[in-house]
Amino acid sequence: MNVQTDIVILGGGIAALQAARKLGNHFKVHLLTKADFTMSSSFKAQGGVAAVVTANDHPTLHIEDTLVAGEFHHHEENVKTLVERGANYVKQLLNNGFPADYTEEGNLSLGLEGAHSRHRIVHAGGDATGEKIIDYYMEESREIPQLFMNTYEFAYELLLNCDGECCGVRVKTAEGDKTYYASYIILATGGAGALYSCTSNQPNSYGDGIALAYLAGAEVTDMEFVQFHPSLLYVNGACGLVSEAVRGAGARFVDRHNTPIMAGKHLLGDLAPRHITAYEMYKMRAAGEEVFIDISMIESFDKKFPTITKLCQKEQIDLTTGKIPVAPGSHFLMGGIVATVKGETSIPRLLAIGEVACTGVHGANRLASNSLLEGITFGHLMAEYIVQTATKQHNFMLVARPVAMNFPPLLQKEILQDAMLEAAGIVRSTEALEALLAQLPTAWHQMDLSNASQEQIELYFMHVTASLIVQAALLRTESRGAHIRREYKQQHSEWTKKWIVFQQGNVNVRDTLYEYNQIKSDVKAVFQRGYRGWRPFKRVHF
Ligand code: SIN
Repeated sequence: MNVQTDIVILGGGIAALQAARKLGNHFKVHLLTKADFTMSSSFKAQGGVAAVVTANDHPTLHIEDTLVAGEFHHHEENVKTLVERGANYVKQLLNNGFPADYTEEGNLSLGLEGAHSRHRIVHAGGDATGEKIIDYYMEESREIPQLFMNTYEFAYELLLNCDGECCGVRVKTAEGDKTYYASYIILATGGAGALYSCTSNQPNSYGDGIALAYLAGAEVTDMEFVQFHPSLLYVNGACGLVSEAVRGAGARFVDRHNTPIMAGKHLLGDLAPRHITAYEMYKMRAAGEEVFIDISMIESFDKKFPTITKLCQKEQIDLTTGKIPVAPGSHFLMGGIVATVKGETSIPRLLAIGEVACTGVHGANRLASNSLLEGITFGHLMAEYIVQTATKQHNFMLVARPVAMNFPPLLQKEILQDAMLEAAGIVRSTEALEALLAQLPTAWHQMDLSNASQEQIELYFMHVTASLIVQAALLRTESRGAHIRREYKQQHSEWTKKWIVFQQGNVNVRDTLYEYNQIKSDVKAVFQRGYRGWRPFKRVHF
């Protein structure tokens, strides 16, 4: 079945819905998710949205906190855009009536999380912020007549025309395959936490979007930077998140004797950047010690953190003991598809926003609660940009279809997830990385996947994305942020501001995130540099 539309958005999290709400008022938009709307990382987000919304705070402080947490491996101009524009969009959201949490005195209730110098985390429903935002956006989206939301449609191939532009996508549905032809395809498919056997992410967060874009020829970078969250509820395996907001409210990491773990380890103690706390928890557990969060000092815990309370009750953790068993687990991918703040990727008419994209705003380790902010901000900026500059695609002459091939040898899913945790987890050794890489596909080739099942394709995509993480982790012979190498314990100046970029089977180490100077917001200049496809400011009505 073929569908002709203006814009296809892949994904159902905050970035996807933010963009869809804006674009749906101007264009015919199809938003496709591979599961339902409760299955995004955004929906699960507990902490909140980091934003400068009070006079007691300032953008320079939020920028500084972001850079320190990410160890200065950033695109600074994009960080500034995130913090400054993001604050405006969050204020708009609040003014429009988003049901954030307020104090009894009627002030916005602002939380504190790791590595923030100010209370600046806007939250809702206590620790149910993501769910509240998704519900709010979904409610608004229902009134947009040109927005079609299709669940359980799994994208497996991006289509390129003979000009090298993205012009469509093939998907699998319960009723068979469908092909969407569109003027723009937007990837907002989220991260890749489920490449690891211990994760806070949804169990189907395999990094599909990165594999899709990479196989289509897009640039992908910063894949070595995978953030591990220090506090996943741990009961015979990881089974959910215990938000950093709990430590922001006074809780502490302790061992089984109630001895504080983070004392003397970092100036910010229990609220040190995540790569620091996760590493400390990792070392304790590797030495055979269990770790806990002591919540005994938090009054009315169940009212402040209803989601975590429910989770603990489900796992039969007795909260009256004041201790929650935790372990670190994969949480967020700082890397992804190279994209500008307007979502432009290296493939014309293919855009990327949210966790699947790498705009350089998270550096080597994301600051807490900057990811919902990212979805809100860049979803908005990209939509605005498309509304202002969109042109209609007329060329649906596809490049030759990839040939049918057999899958390369693939590991079983659980074996791959365990191997990723072991070799490309919190601490990475050369030997383990090399051994794992030998079992992963490294050649770049597009395959005709039309006869394969969704499960087979997801497993293949997992291998592609995992392979990029492992290759990048091997290449970066230093420790920086969330990337910790056993043999290279320090940062090395030769790796400062170096981006490892993958494209079409090649890997380059370069000094800039963008090869072309597109970040200057000068579409004309970009156009003259030969960045094809973005035609300057010719407004077209679809
Ligand atoms: C948390 O609530 O601890 C996670 C929030 C985030 O990842 O930003």
